[in-house]
Order: sequence, then structure tokens, then C-alpha cells
Amino acid sequence: MVKHISDSVKYIGVDDLGLDLFESQYVVPEGMAYNSYVILDEKVAVMDTVDARCGGDWKAQLAEALAGRRPDYLVVHHMEPDHSGLVAEAMETYPGMTLVATAKALQMLVQFTGQAFAGRTLAVKEGDTLPLGAHTLRFLMAPMVHWPEVMVSFEEKERILFAADAFGKFGALSKCGFFGEEDDDWACEARRYYFNICGKYGQPVQALLKKVLPLAPAVIAPLHGPILRKDLETYLNLYNTWSSYGVETEGVFIAYASIHGGTAEVAEKLAEILKAKGCPKVAMADLTRDDQAEAVEDAFRYGKMAVLAASYDAGLFTPAYSFLHTLQMKAYQQRRVALVENGSWAPSAGRVMKEMFAAMKAVEVVEPLVTIRSRMKAEDIPALEALADALLA
Ligand SMILES: Cc1cc2nc3c(=O)[nH]c(=O)nc-3n(C[C@H](O)[C@H](O)[C@H](O)COP(=O)(O)O)c2cc1C
Ligand SMILES: [Fe+2]
Ligand SMILES: [Fe+2]
Repeated sequence: MVKHISDSVKYIGVDDLGLDLFESQYVVPEGMAYNSYVILDEKVAVMDTVDARCGGDWKAQLAEALAGRRPDYLVVHHMEPDHSGLVAEAMETYPGMTLVATAKALQMLVQFTGQAFAGRTLAVKEGDTLPLGAHTLRFLMAPMVHWPEVMVSFEEKERILFAADAFGKFGALSKCGFFGEEDDDWACEARRYYFNICGKYGQPVQALLKKVLPLAPAVIAPLHGPILRKDLETYLNLYNTWSSYGVETEGVFIAYASIHGGTAEVAEKLAEILKAKGCPKVAMADLTRDDQAEAVEDAFRYGKMAVLAASYDAGLFTPAYSFLHTLQMKAYQQRRVALVENGSWAPSAGRVMKEMFAAMKAVEVVEPLVTIRSRMKAEDIPALEALADALLA
């Protein structure tokens, strides 16, 4: 059903409740929303399409919102298929419609659809405006706020920021609420989404925030997740912290990868020691079983991290390897990290972890590296105490 954001701005996005993995990698227990909007003025602008998986719903809602009118523009903020899945079909359905996007997006359009829609496209640059009547869209380039061709747009009359993937969140709107204020834990799934999807691109997100803040948007309309229109400062502040790799929550995140339970036992002990030493918050993840994307989120959320892992084939047990590799891909940085390795004949996990963290920016691995031989013994406790002290120092 079409939803009203205002008299002129309608929501025509869709909920995808049958998706197994978003981007073939992220679990979405609450489904996923692909947002799309229509602005009705003297000219009619459609803001993005949705994933082709949900084409039927989107087309029906578009028709309902248009109520017999024909769209003049299709604004494409991002060419990734979760948003551009219906672009070619919409262009065919509405021959009078002009596609508005960045020059790079227009190149990608040909790659994805095999069609250039020559004579029917308008390439826009930083600061270009598109008058629709009483409403005017102003385009702001947002390269690498996920992909290089991304832009956002700001509607000047109602001060709506069409934010593309920025300020997005996992979860269908029927589950997590249409407006942000109905969502009592927006940050939880927004943070998992941000760090896994945009984590590597902190600087581009910072650049976008610098352009957006002076505009003082009244509404943020992202391509995923609820429409935000209250307490925008909270969301903007979180995005500032996240994109500057700042600490959101003081505390230690303990991530462990154990084969036979010995390392898991050490992780529990380390948590106990940290709490006893007054650590404000200790969060923990079993890298062999828990959602890795959630672990990535927590690595960025907390100020400090401890990684404990079994040695494996003269290297590092693969769930820990995958986790650290992902952190490296996502530009994990500016953190203190404590390491514990476990091994039964030639412990090797610590060496690999040190090498991996050395390749990351401004990650300090604190001493001592604690080595456990198969199972934790009473004589290992002082080393764990020393490690906790070093991490909290
Ligand atoms: C497939 C496999 C490969 C292993 N490779 C090594 C190794 O290269 N060096 C080593 O010291 N221990 C190695 N181990 C032994 C474990 O690292 C060791 O038993 C450790 O104590 C396991 O901790 P956990 O109880 O947390 O699983 C390996 C174990 C398995 C199952
Ligand atoms: Fe994207
Ligand atoms: Fe997206």
C-alpha cells in the first residue's frame, strides 16, 4: 500500500520477507525493505526502484501513487540491483520519463541493463538542481557511500534528504516500523548494516555528513529501513561516530574461536576478570556459531577487543581468520586489541593474528600475547590478569 510521507511525497517501497541473505551474506531475520518514493508536483519524480524480486508490488504501488499521471523523471541514486532492479522496465513502461543519475551511474546502467536509453537520460553533478514545481531536488555526490556512482538528493521545500544507502537498516518496515520513532532499537540493525556494508568507507561518509549537516534536513528517507523524521541529531551523531571510527560504547568485545571448548573457557574467564577489574561492559561472540556480521559490528562499537583462537594447521582456526580478514576489509582501525592463542603442539594462532592486525591502521596489539596449551591451568591466570590490565590501561 502507498504510504504518505507528506501531501506530495509518497512511499512506494516494498518489504521483502522471503529473503534468505541480503547481498548473499547477511541474515535478515526481520526481512529487508527496499524503499522507493514518488514526488508529485507539476512534474512527477520517481525516486529509485526496488529489487526485481519485488517488482509486482512496486509496480502496483507506483501506479496507485501516480493515479493516472505519468512520471517525468526517474532519479537513480544508486545502481546496485537492490534498487535499480526495475529501472529498465520502468523506462520502457513510461516512454516520456527521463532517467536522472550521475555520469558513472549511467555507465553502469548499460552494464546492468544492456541499454543506454540515449536521449532519455540526464547526468547530474554536485549541486545541480531539478525543479519539479514547488519542489526542487538538489543533488549531492556521495561517491563510495557504498558504490562509486552514488549520489543523494535534497528536496528543498520539505527538506527531505533522499539518502541512498546511508542511514539504512536491515529489517522490513512492517516489522520495524515505518517511521524511525516507532523503532525502539534502530541502532542495533542500523549499526550491523553500516559497518558491514559501508564500514570501509568512513571518509566518504564523513564527506557526505559535512555537506548534509548545514542543510538541516527535516526528514531522512533512506533506501532501506525506516523513514527518519524525529531526533535526527541522534542518527546524525551515530553516523558521525561510526564513520570516524570513534568509540560508541566503552567496554571490551571478546571474540573467540574454539574447536573443543578450551578457548571458549578462557574467553569466559577473561570476561570474568575484565568485569572484576571494573570494565564498564563486556560483550562476547562465539565466532564459530554467532553471526559474523554481528561480531564485526561489535568490534567497531566497543573501544577495545580481545580475540582468542585455537591454532589450526600451523595457522589460525578459520572462523577467526575469516573474522579478522573481514575486519581488515572493513578498515577496522584505531583500537587496542588483546590476543590469546591456544595450541596443543606448536601454537600458531597468535602469530597469524598479529600479522593480520599489523596490516590494519592504528591497531595496537597489547602485550602479553597469552598462549594456552590445550586447556587453561591455574598458572595461566596471572597472564590473563596482566592481559586484562594492559587492555584496560
Ligand atoms: C584440524 C586441526 C588443526 C590443528 N592445528 C594445530 C596446529 O597447527 N598447532 C597446534 O598447536 N595445535 C593445532 N591444533 C590443536 C588445537 O589448536 C588445540 O587442541 C587447541 O587446544 C584447541 O583449543 P580449543 O579447545 O579451544 O578448540 C589443531 C586442531 C585441529 C582440529
Ligand atoms: Fe548498496
Ligand atoms: Fe542498498
